[in-house]
Amino acid sequence: MNEIDKQVKPTFLRSLRFRIMLILVIMGFMPCLLATNVVIGRYRSRAIQLRTMNVRNQGDILCNLLMSEDYLDNLDSAVINGELTLISNIYNGRVMIVDGDYRVVRDTYDLDTGRTSVSKEVISAMSGGGAETQYDAINDYILMTFPLHDEDTSDVNGVMLISVSTTEIEQMAGILENWGMFVTGMVTLIVLVAGYFLAGLLVRPFLTVTRAIEDVTDGYADDAISVPDYSETVQIIDAFNRMLGRIRTMDQSRQEFVSNVSHELKTPLASMKVLADSLNSQDDLPIEYYKEFMQDITGEIDRENKIISDLLSMVRMDRKADSMKIEECDIGGMLETIVKRLKPIAAERRISISLSAPQTVRANVDDGKLSLAFSNLIENAVKYNHDDGWVRVTLSTDRKYFYVYVEDGGPGIPADQIEHIFERFYRGDKSHSTAIEGTGLGLAIARQAILLHHGVIKVNSREGQGTTFQVRIPFINAEN
Ligand SMILES: Nc1ncnc2c1ncn2[C@@H]1O[C@H](COP(=O)(O)OP(=O)(O)O)[C@@H](O)[C@H]1O
Ligand SMILES: [Mg+2]
Repeated sequence: MNEIDKQVKPTFLRSLRFRIMLILVIMGFMPCLLATNVVIGRYRSRAIQLRTMNVRNQGDILCNLLMSEDYLDNLDSAVINGELTLISNIYNGRVMIVDGDYRVVRDTYDLDTGRTSVSKEVISAMSGGGAETQYDAINDYILMTFPLHDEDTSDVNGVMLISVSTTEIEQMAGILENWGMFVTGMVTLIVLVAGYFLAGLLVRPFLTVTRAIEDVTDGYADDAISVPDYSETVQIIDAFNRMLGRIRTMDQSRQEFVSNVSHELKTPLASMKVLADSLNSQDDLPIEYYKEFMQDITGEIDRENKIISDLLSMVRMDRKADSMKIEECDIGGMLETIVKRLKPIAAERRISISLSAPQTVRANVDDGKLSLAFSNLIENAVKYNHDDGWVRVTLSTDRKYFYVYVEDGGPGIPADQIEHIFERFYRGDKSHSTAIEGTGLGLAIARQAILLHHGVIKVNSREGQGTTFQVRIPFINAEN
């Protein structure tokens, strides 16, 4: 829990809802801004282009007129003066005419009349630079020069300068810009509001999922939950339900285990109580009775002890890999010790145990745990056997694994019981499970020990012919 808490602090800025809104707003805002800028830029350049073209046409016509009327020598021409005033009025501009001596002979603003003008535009036009147009974006005007050619010699003997203001174009662009901003703002606002609700709609299933999981956690809901809104939520819920299933199975098997343990522990106690009660309820019993009953009671105590020590071994196995005491062991030696210990018990029923270990096999294993596993297998082979029977233990290896086979010629395991024999407390069919002592934990312990060594255990059995347990364990075990 703590790990998860540390990972994500649930703030609004981190929420999916906010991210979706942000994306939507950017997607609405950016195109508006771009469109506004493009449109205004295009408008401005087109308007200036048109204005320039118009003025230049008018200027050309005026130039021709000036020259055909010989205006520089005849400044009083009413027709031309009228034209000049007209042009300057229409385009809100200024027309200046400079003669061959760089003297301003006419200025519609009447500011520079009579002065000398040596601006670079004038000089350039005078020295044959031709007609020119300049746009001054900072001061908002267009300046055009028209060289005045002598009709006969085509020498330049004067210049006409027309400057027109572009302020109104800029004003128009400004208005458009304001509109663009307004529209962008409105769009952003609408997208923000719509995005808020849309994003809310999109993330709602997640909230439903959370609530459903919380209901299960708090114990309001017991069954598998379902949020069929989207395939994603279905996936989350599926995964959650699977996990829930596993937890329930684990819980169930824990409960079963506890009730099995209690039952198993109570059985010997109940027998002891019966034995003790029957002694108590009768007076003047001969001493032999007491001895016999006491022996039975001792037997039950041994049984209780065996169950408890098996339980402890199993709990130790459950503690997983970190409790492993791995060291290099001689597996053949280990099997020999076990066989030597069991031989006297086997001999009571004239059962022979043979061990064949062709070469020395050394492996990194947990000696205690693995010994317990093999001794449970060999003990079973002796226990579930006929009198005068046989048990064969074989050790072999290849490069990656070592193998231990425990074979017996006993009665075998009925096919329908084979799948259960590794379960905790499972004992074979009732008739012999009462005759032969045991706790039903031996194979569960053996299997757990072998799994801790990354090994495999398999069983082959045929009723009436005998049983073989095969164990395969890899050599690489030193790590975990
Ligand atoms: N070699 C064997 N031959 C026949 N049956 C066996 C053999 N090993 C185990 N079984 C069956 O598997 C059951 C479970 O074995 P185990 O877990 O060791 O418990 P226990 O030996 O205490 O009964 C036994 O009760 C028995 O029925
Ligand atoms: Mg056993």
